[in-house]
Amino acid sequence: MTPETDLIPSPRVIEGPTRCGVPLDEATTVYAAPGTGTVERWLRSTVGAALGLPLAPGTEDDPNSVRLYLDDTLEPEAYKLSVVVNWGVEIRGGSAAGVFWGAQTLRQLLGPDAYRRAPVRPGVTYGIPHQTIEDAPRFRWRGLMLDVSRHFMPKDGVLRYLDLMAAHKLNVFHFHLTDDQGWRVEIRKYPRLTEVGSWRARTKFGHRASPLWDDKPHGGFYTQDDIREIVAYAAERHITVVPEIDVPGHSQAAIAAYPELGNTDVIDTSALTVWDTWGINPNVLAPTDNTLRFYEGVFEELLELFPSEFIHVGGDECLKDQWRQSPTAQERIRELGLKDEDELQAWFIGHFDKWLAARGRRLIGWDEILEGGLAEGAAVSSWRGYAGGIAAARAGHDVVMCPEQQVYLDHRQDGGDDEPVPIGYVRTLEDVYRFEPVPAELTPDEARHVLGTQANVWTEVMEDHARVDYQTFPRLAAFAEVAWSSLPAPAERDFAGFERRMAAHYGRLDALGVAYRPPTGPRPWQRRPGVLGRPIDGPPPNR
Ligand code: ACM
Repeated sequence: MTPETDLIPSPRVIEGPTRCGVPLDEATTVYAAPGTGTVERWLRSTVGAALGLPLAPGTEDDPNSVRLYLDDTLEPEAYKLSVVVNWGVEIRGGSAAGVFWGAQTLRQLLGPDAYRRAPVRPGVTYGIPHQTIEDAPRFRWRGLMLDVSRHFMPKDGVLRYLDLMAAHKLNVFHFHLTDDQGWRVEIRKYPRLTEVGSWRARTKFGHRASPLWDDKPHGGFYTQDDIREIVAYAAERHITVVPEIDVPGHSQAAIAAYPELGNTDVIDTSALTVWDTWGINPNVLAPTDNTLRFYEGVFEELLELFPSEFIHVGGDECLKDQWRQSPTAQERIRELGLKDEDELQAWFIGHFDKWLAARGRRLIGWDEILEGGLAEGAAVSSWRGYAGGIAAARAGHDVVMCPEQQVYLDHRQDGGDDEPVPIGYVRTLEDVYRFEPVPAELTPDEARHVLGTQANVWTEVMEDHARVDYQTFPRLAAFAEVAWSSLPAPAERDFAGFERRMAAHYGRLDALGVAYRPPTGPRPWQRRPGVLGRPIDGPPPNR
């Protein structure tokens, strides 16, 4: 197999390769033109460490070098990689990000050893075949959402996922930091959010109807320094971290920490604990001034930590029963002249839309934020299918397409009975490969509002990083190609060709230590007796 056919995601144009190539050896140097320092550091600390090569700083005229340049004739994330005999390797990018994606392609051309953390074949000279690659992404938002609330992923695991994203040219990490089952980010002003809100006493094992419990406490959180480290590590890899604080639903952990945030005129919120099972929770935030001020305090600290343009405020699955019963919420509806509880949620979200806009940021929320009227500057994560995204794009709002029917990677990968905890729709590797983020209903003008696409990893049934790997891979590789490459229409996509390239890609994932779902043979996860999944053809809710 020729090396070019192994690249994932596939690039736009490849010329060559030939059998001749250039070596990468002890003497190879790196020349980094101004603005490409992040890539030089990454090459040395990652590829250099993997192959045992110093990749020392060099000069532009060294033919045994990797030379990095910014090139303003290219689109910001585009790159051109040239490997020329007796001339070495040159990567030109429209920005440092473009150069970085080119360096990721170079790493793929070097083979699986380039994905290890230390050399396994010291002294071997690695060759890169003579060729030219021109490449650019289809979408500017190529995201992965990770839920660290349902199961906490310690910081090292998050940094590893940023590396895995970078290896697949994904560039937005949507960090789902809060939910009913755990609050995961230190907020100095409100220490109980993590003192109380980051631990639960026990955890449902399997789907919420399962009779099984894991009876040990589960929890953890990131300190503000941990977050700064994660954001900086992501930035070195040209990944933006978009934090999510989910309001006004999915908030039981926060209410358990600060009972006054809940609907105290409806239930005794001081009796609530961090939730230990799954599903849609009725305990939502009270729509009071006190709640607004509290979350302004949370977002103030968040803005110091996350430079991202977009801040995600959740907005999904907010049950309105307590608001219907609450005299305080009803009084607020009257006083604001609102029609109903949906408009009350829209008012709540709209408050933070304006609050964020005043601070130079943009609000993004799940597609429920369309109900009751979409806030002026809001962007939408379309998860309940395409409809929310279509409506938002038609109304001139930006959209990230992440329909659960297609790209929820917690959902089962196979209809057979060997999925560990089978939930949601059956979505095979091929289904993900044939996912089309831009619905045909949109006109070209409307389609410009589709910023891109995102795969979502909800972790109710993933208690550790090996389970996260198993659900996420290999499907994330197919998703990355959908997000990056300019693929034909779904029915015309060459899935057999993708599978042939995957044969090489599994070698890279093996070297990275990714516990992916193997394409054939025995699988590491057996379904535990008694674990219940959602019935295979059952309707949502899926968890
Ligand atoms: C979601 O899956 N509740 C956004």
